[in-house]
Amino acid sequence: MYTPDDLVPALTAFVDDQLWTARAPLRFYGVPMGCRMTVCRLADGRLLVHSPIKLDAIKPQLDALGEIAFAVAPNFIHHLYMGPFLEAYPNARLFVSPKLVAKRPDLRAEGVLGDAPPPGTWGETLDQAIVRSGTVMDEVVFLHRPSRTLILCDLCECVHADAPLGWRIMGRLAGIYEHYGPPLDMRLSFRDRAALRQFVTRVLSWDFDRVVLSHGNLVHAAGKDIFRKAYAFCL
Ligand SMILES: [Fe+2]
Repeated sequence: MYTPDDLVPALTAFVDDQLWTARAPLRFYGVPMGCRMTVCRLADGRLLVHSPIKLDAIKPQLDALGEIAFAVAPNFIHHLYMGPFLEAYPNARLFVSPKLVAKRPDLRAEGVLGDAPPPGTWGETLDQAIVRSGTVMDEVVFLHRPSRTLILCDLCECVHADAPLGWRIMGRLAGIYEHYGPPLDMRLSFRDRAALRQFVTRVLSWDFDRVVLSHGNLVHAAGKDIFRKAYAFCL
């Protein structure tokens, strides 16, 4: 079942000793859509945490995985729990999407995410690309090479048949009910189709089979086909 409000978050291995995810309840304008955090093992054994959720229930599990080297907020929406996360892990180096720098200056990010890993960070393990074609979204997506996993946040979402009613209604309106893709409002905001095509083409050039996304079931196989279909409208 997907995103019940009483969900107790727990870290679950998506790929053994490489990638973990945890889901948590989240209401967006009253709609119970839930969200997901991702933890990546880096080449040096340390960890990168993508889009943290509320830590309470999962902190002991997270602590047991190892040292958290980096935290990333991949777009300007997924930042709600970043403040408390950094209080819990003050040595984690924070990198955020360009629009979040202005929105949350209090987070004091070390750097801004772009089309390449910042020097001296996670480049040995992860690649990244930023979509700049939209008037709204500025999301940065990641490729976790060891697990061949594409890590998305909001660029691709899916509402499933077992989701709460409000989220199913939203899903039908947004064109993402039982369909992986960008919600309609985001899709309409992609004004620069050439830039979007360039971004999608680059992502499709990566070697991945799995997909992690913030809203929708994890994709264990054929992830590249799903991403290609999601963005076929711009190719
Ligand atoms: Fe989201």
